Amino acid sequence: MREMIKRVLMSSTERQGVTVAGWVRTRRDSKTFSFLEINDGSCLANLQVVADAGIPGYEQVERMLTGASVEITGRLVASVGQGQQWEMQADSIRLIGEVQADYPLQKKGHSLEFLRSLSHLRPRTNLHGAVFRMRSRMSFAVHQFFQERDFTHVHTPILTASDCEGAGEMFRVTTLPPDKAAMDAEDFFGKKAFLTVSGQLEGETFACALSNIYTFGPTFRAENSHTSRHAAEFWMIEPEVAFCDLQGDMDLAEALVKHLVQHALEKSDGDLTVFEKFIDKTLRERLEFVAERPFERVTYTEAVELLLKSGKTFQYPVEYGLNLQSEHERWLTEEYFKKPTTVYNYPKEIKPFYMRLNDDDKTVTAMDLLVPGIGEIVGGSQREERLDVLLENMKRHHLDPQDYWWYVDLRRYGSVPHAGFGMGFERMLMFVTGMANIRDVIPFSRTPGSCDF
Ligand code: 4AD
Repeated sequence: MREMIKRVLMSSTERQGVTVAGWVRTRRDSKTFSFLEINDGSCLANLQVVADAGIPGYEQVERMLTGASVEITGRLVASVGQGQQWEMQADSIRLIGEVQADYPLQKKGHSLEFLRSLSHLRPRTNLHGAVFRMRSRMSFAVHQFFQERDFTHVHTPILTASDCEGAGEMFRVTTLPPDKAAMDAEDFFGKKAFLTVSGQLEGETFACALSNIYTFGPTFRAENSHTSRHAAEFWMIEPEVAFCDLQGDMDLAEALVKHLVQHALEKSDGDLTVFEKFIDKTLRERLEFVAERPFERVTYTEAVELLLKSGKTFQYPVEYGLNLQSEHERWLTEEYFKKPTTVYNYPKEIKPFYMRLNDDDKTVTAMDLLVPGIGEIVGGSQREERLDVLLENMKRHHLDPQDYWWYVDLRRYGSVPHAGFGMGFERMLMFVTGMANIRDVIPFSRTPGSCDF
């Protein structure tokens, strides 16, 4: 359909003998002709086709039901009907794939839950078509952002032996039969292996050679979280920058969020109208606001003070030294600051071993970027580049430096201050589409108890 739209802008000869193929959305018949609404998924708009009785293939028109695939050749002409500027006057029509009577997407207005059970068919709906086209555009925009800034894209491994976050939430990968599961030395790699939770540690090795790098790939977490923001398989964008501190890291994260929002506004006009209609009327307004205004920055200590002074009753306790929960993050961004907010300098006890210790000896250079409606979409830090302090951190986290010898080596050979972050790609997509559940922005979502398709 997108191709059609391009053609109508061209010369009249190019509007003749045009062939389109797609799926029938609706069909209306009169005695002497039929109207078919065709969509090929390339954009939101349908193409209206007028097929006069008697043209080649018209004898098949009754079998061109909602969901059937068809091919039509004809002329693009100015439409006299309402709702579209152009339509196709068919010269011939052909049924490609018939649709059986139990096709489940007959009616409009199916619930998102129901559509999740039809993940193989839901991309054909207006809403999910828009979501997944947006996903594709956002993916392009991520690469554009970094490539324009001369970052090198590094493919970090999916199979790994190291737990970057130290949270023990890794999926094990083994070829051992169940009765030999404990015999690590006999396993495929001669030791335990897992699906990666983050490409960061490997990313750091490349930043310490190529300066500015990023990874963008699937990551896996075996955390038993049943929230609307957690998936077992999700994509993460992880830049890592050498000769960079926490301030530079926060600047980069904010710039990336703004770039993606701006790209969505500029390139997804049609699809945004779907989200506005079905999901969130204020979406465009909210995105424009985020694209234009500066974000807020606040230390963890200040954030805790604000939460304590808020007078609100939260489900989870607020106390210095505890993690901020989603409800706290949302209060800060939605009710207090009313804009995206970066919280930084967290207590060292609640953050991973690789974060750089601040001079106060209490906090580390961690930062989380929070957005209204979702909470955390970016988590990052300046990394500990001092060998002795890193070894001390590892000890505190009960990690054996031997297991991370290559990571420790970076601090032995020309160590540099460096920083990076991870952006949850699906969380960012939730933000630009307004979709409230992460399962609805992943083609085939994997969550605890669910690995269909
Ligand atoms: O804060 P996280 O755990 O940070 C890291 O993994 C770092 N190693 C990244 C880095 O510094 N290179 O995760 C980063 C982001 C979160 O802010 C969130 O947006 C997303 O990844 N995320 C998830 N998204 C969906 N489902 C999950 N289970 C997620 N866990 C984290």
